[in-house]
Amino acid sequence: MKKVLFIVGSLRVKSFNRQLADVAEQMLAGRADVARLDIADVPVVNQDAEFPAPEDVSRMRKAVGEADAVWIFTPEYNGSYPGLLKNTLDWLSRPLVAGDYATPTCIAGKTVALSGAGGRAATAGCRAKLTELLTFIRAEVLEPQTGVALAPECWATDVLTLTDEQREALKLQAEALIAKLG
Ligand SMILES: Cc1cc2nc3c(=O)[nH]c(=O)nc-3n(C[C@H](O)[C@H](O)[C@H](O)COP(=O)(O)O)c2cc1C
Repeated sequence: MKKVLFIVGSLRVKSFNRQLADVAEQMLAGRADVARLDIADVPVVNQDAEFPAPEDVSRMRKAVGEADAVWIFTPEYNGSYPGLLKNTLDWLSRPLVAGDYATPTCIAGKTVALSGAGGRAATAGCRAKLTELLTFIRAEVLEPQTGVALAPECWATDVLTLTDEQREALKLQAEALIAKLG
């Protein structure tokens, strides 16, 4: 079975995006092996500490390299992506050997699906900028993406609820990913 690595761009315990990832995981059940990448302890990028890379970073690169696709679920922070996610992708974009820009990185050519749950804009700004960043680091962004504008009651309960339309959009995205993996 193909391997899909989930990355959640929020550290919040009750993260809506983590809950969205749970729904997507159910949709992929029996059709892909889903694993989650924990990015909570990834150190801040520091070029003085790149070679050899910190252990957490090596582990993360190995997991990404071995995955057939990555699926990111992320909130939008100030119309963009969270710094945590940028830091993660910056690490993934760097060569394994100093000065070696010829060997592909673990993220180059990787299919990356994007989903986000947030306010009224449904993380559109975040996903647009993330698409730009991922394209820059040579990942292949899968279409369609899914944006969820959270229902007002979600903010009070911390429980993600999805409309039929939002669930259908996520399902369509899951199908597109399965089709892409072949
Ligand atoms: C620094 C910061 C900036 C934010 N900016 C936005 C924003 O531009 N658009 C938006 O929809 N939500 C924004 N939010 C709200 C969160 O993205 C929102 O609560 C989201 O649902 C949290 O996702 P999570 O439950 O997965 O942590 C911001 C939150 C923080 C902490």
